[in-house]
Amino acid sequence: MQGFPFESLGVVAFFILFVMAATSHDFWNANLGPGAWKFIHMGVYLAYLALVAHVMLGFVQSEKSVLYPVLIGVGAGWLALVHLLAAAKSSRGLDDAEAGWIKVATTAEFTEGRARIVTPEKGERIAVFLHKGRFSAVSNVCRHQGGPLGEGKVVDDCITCPWHGFQYRLEDGQSPAPFTEKISTYNLKLEGGTVFVHEEPNEPGTPTKPVALGPEAA
Ligand code: FES
Repeated sequence: MQGFPFESLGVVAFFILFVMAATSHDFWNANLGPGAWKFIHMGVYLAYLALVAHVMLGFVQSEKSVLYPVLIGVGAGWLALVHLLAAAKSSRGLDDAEAGWIKVATTAEFTEGRARIVTPEKGERIAVFLHKGRFSAVSNVCRHQGGPLGEGKVVDDCITCPWHGFQYRLEDGQSPAPFTEKISTYNLKLEGGTVFVHEEPNEPGTPTKPVALGPEAA
């Protein structure tokens, strides 16, 4: 690793972060379209990797000990493992025998005010929240800049986007007044202690029947 031109990685990270900063305004989101905008801003992962590699490889230029490359390798392996585990957690669940229903998780696997995320074969990922003993399912994609709603939490009875705080009601996916944003909702069912979500989205803002955790929560 000695002699590696680590400076170039810093330049790559700087360039990516510069482009992200320059296009972060809603104007660019509206004009580039959500897909292109998100593609650009997913570059944060590449920038992060380039930045870490830049610092690490710069550090080992003057080190002779093999301990540091080993530590870097272990750290990189650990990071990859954590990301793989996170991806597996949000991956598509087992299908119910009935077409269109996707297994989300058992009720015991949910955390109050948080979501489990599932990936249907087609379309956007789905975030299924548990709040005050009731389950609600909405699109995982925030209307503002595509933030991952399922990584947010429920605040004041509303799903709150972890990126910039846009909020959506659990029961119908609508932003509370005076805001007008709407996201798709999904139908849920509870069978034998397991939550299932139907992969077909409802029109954005459509109220859904809440699914209760148990009689005590009704
Ligand atoms: S992406 Fe900005 S609030 Fe959700």
